[in-house]
Amino acid sequence: MLVAWALAQFNPAPLRLRRLGYVRQSGLLHARSRRCRAAWTPHLEHARGVVAAAAAATPRRGLAVVIGSGLLDDVPLDRLATLFERVSLVDAVHPWPARLAVRRHAHVSLVTAEIGAGLAGDLAECCAGADLIVSANLLSQIPIVPLDTYEARGRVAPSQLGAQLIEAHLAALDAFARTAGRVCLITDTVQREEDRAGRITDSLDLMFEVALPQPEAAWDWEIAPYGEIGRHHRLVHRVHAYPDWRAARR
Ligand SMILES: C[S@@+](CC[C@H](N)C(=O)[O-])C[C@H]1O[C@@H](n2cnc3c(N)ncnc32)[C@H](O)[C@@H]1O
Repeated sequence: MLVAWALAQFNPAPLRLRRLGYVRQSGLLHARSRRCRAAWTPHLEHARGVVAAAAAATPRRGLAVVIGSGLLDDVPLDRLATLFERVSLVDAVHPWPARLAVRRHAHVSLVTAEIGAGLAGDLAECCAGADLIVSANLLSQIPIVPLDTYEARGRVAPSQLGAQLIEAHLAALDAFARTAGRVCLITDTVQREEDRAGRITDSLDLMFEVALPQPEAAWDWEIAPYGEIGRHHRLVHRVHAYPDWRAARR
C-alpha cells in the first residue's frame, strides 16, 4: 500500500482525475505489476506480440494510437515508434516509467484523457485519422473508477452501468474499425479464483455479461499468484486478443 501510494504521488495528473481515484488505481497497478513481475511476464509477452503483429499488418503507417497505455508494460513502444510516423499514448494517468520511455522518441506523445463516454470528446479527437488503434488491457478497467465513485459516495450504482461502459467502448472501437486502418483489442474477460488443487473457488465476469466475439488468441494471465491475495488462492484472468477487431466482428 505504501509503495503504491508513494508511486502515485510522483505521477502528474489533472486534479479532477486524481480526485476521482485514477492516480490511486495507477499506483496500485504499478506496485502489483512489480511485485508480480515473473507471473505477469507470459501475459505481457503475448500482448506485446499481438500488438507488434497488428502494427506490422497495418498498411498505412501515419498515426498509431494506444488507448490504456499506462505503464507501457504490454506495449512494444520502440516497435511502434519505428513503424509509425506518430504514436499517441492515451490514458487517464501516465506513470513515470511511461514518461521516461517516451523521452526516447520525439514523435511519441502523451494524451491525458478519461475514456468512458464512447466516441464523444477526447477519444474521438485522439483517434481522428489513426491508421492503427490499440485498446491495451483497458476495457475491463473502464467501469472500476465510476463504480467506486458511487460506492465512495454511499450510493448504489445503476445496475447496468458496468455493461453500458463496456458497450460504449466496444461501440467506439466498431466506429473506428469502419474508418481507421486497423483496430486491435486486448482485454481480460473473466477472473477465476483458484485453490492449490486447481479448483475454481470463485469467478467474476469482467465484461458484465457483454458478449465478445471469438478471439483470435486467448491466454491466462496469473494476475495474483499464490501469496498475493492469500497463501492458498490465486487469481487468474482469461485474456482475449483481437488483432483485427473489424474481422472479429464480422
Ligand atoms: C490494466 S492497465 C493497462 C495496462 C497498460 N497497457 C500497461 O501496459 O501498463 C489499465 C489502464 O487503463 C487506464 N484507465 C482505466 N480507466 C480509464 C479511463 N476511464 N480512461 C482512461 N484510462 C483509463 C488506467 O489508468 C491504466 O493505465
